[in-house]
Amino acid sequence: MLIAGNWKMNTDLAAATQLAQDVVAAVGDPGAVQVAVCPPFISLDAVFGALRGSAVKLGAQNMHAADAGAYTGEVAAPMLRSVGCDYVILGHSERRQYFGETDAGVNAKVKQALANGLIPIICVGEVLDERRAGRENEVVQTQVAGALDGVSVDDPARLVIAYEPVWAIGTGETATPAQAQDMHAFIRGLLSKRFGESFARDIHILYGGSMKPANAADLLSQTDVDGGLIGGASLKADSFAAIVQAEQGA
Ligand code: 13P
Repeated sequence: MLIAGNWKMNTDLAAATQLAQDVVAAVGDPGAVQVAVCPPFISLDAVFGALRGSAVKLGAQNMHAADAGAYTGEVAAPMLRSVGCDYVILGHSERRQYFGETDAGVNAKVKQALANGLIPIICVGEVLDERRAGRENEVVQTQVAGALDGVSVDDPARLVIAYEPVWAIGTGETATPAQAQDMHAFIRGLLSKRFGESFARDIHILYGGSMKPANAADLLSQTDVDGGLIGGASLKADSFAAIVQAEQGA
C-alpha cells in the first residue's frame, strides 16, 4: 500500500516546506501504508529536511536518463539520491503529452532509476479517444511493455506502476472502481507474464486521476488497487491525509 502525492508544478520553496510540515503532522503514523510526496525539484532538499524523522518519503517528478553531463536544465538520478529521494515518477502523462516523452525514453529512465537505487513510479494510461475506441488495454499493454523492455528486477518493492487514465487527471472525473479494478488486474496479469506470479502479486499498482477523500475508499478497496498517486488533493495536507486514512481502512 502506497499513497504518493504528485505536487506537479505547484508550491514555491516556502509553500512546499510548509506543506511538507503539514503533511507530516496530518499523516502521523501511517502504519502499514507507505507515504511519499513529490515536490518540484527546487524544493526537494528543503522538503527532505521537513520530512526527517517522519514516515513520509521523498520522490521527484522526473529525471534525465544520463549520469551527468551537458544536458542544460536537466536533473540526474544521482542528484535525486543526494537530496534524499527514494522515488521518482516517470512517464507521467503530462510528460508524454507536453514534453514528448516516449516509451523508449521512459524505459531508459527506468533503467537509470533502478541502477541508482531509486524506485520508479511508472505512469501508464489511455486518453479518452482510446477508451472510447475500446483500445485501453492495448495502449496500456504497449506502455508497460515499452517501459519495462530489458528491465531486470527481482524485488517487487523496487518498482511501482501507476495507472492514470488521462481523461481522469485533473478533470474531476474518476474511473469507476470497476474500471480501475479491471485495468489493474490486466496490468497485474502483464507483470505476472513478465516477472512471475509472486512478483506480480506483491508489486504496488497505484490508481491516479481525481482521487480525493470522497472517492478514495471505493477505489482503494478494489482488490488490485494497491494505493494512489494523488495530484490536486495532495496539495492540501488534510485531504492527502484523509486518503492515507482511507487506505489504512481499505
Ligand atoms: P489529479 O489527482 O489532480 O487528477 O492528478 C492525478 C495525477 O496526475 C497524479 O500524478
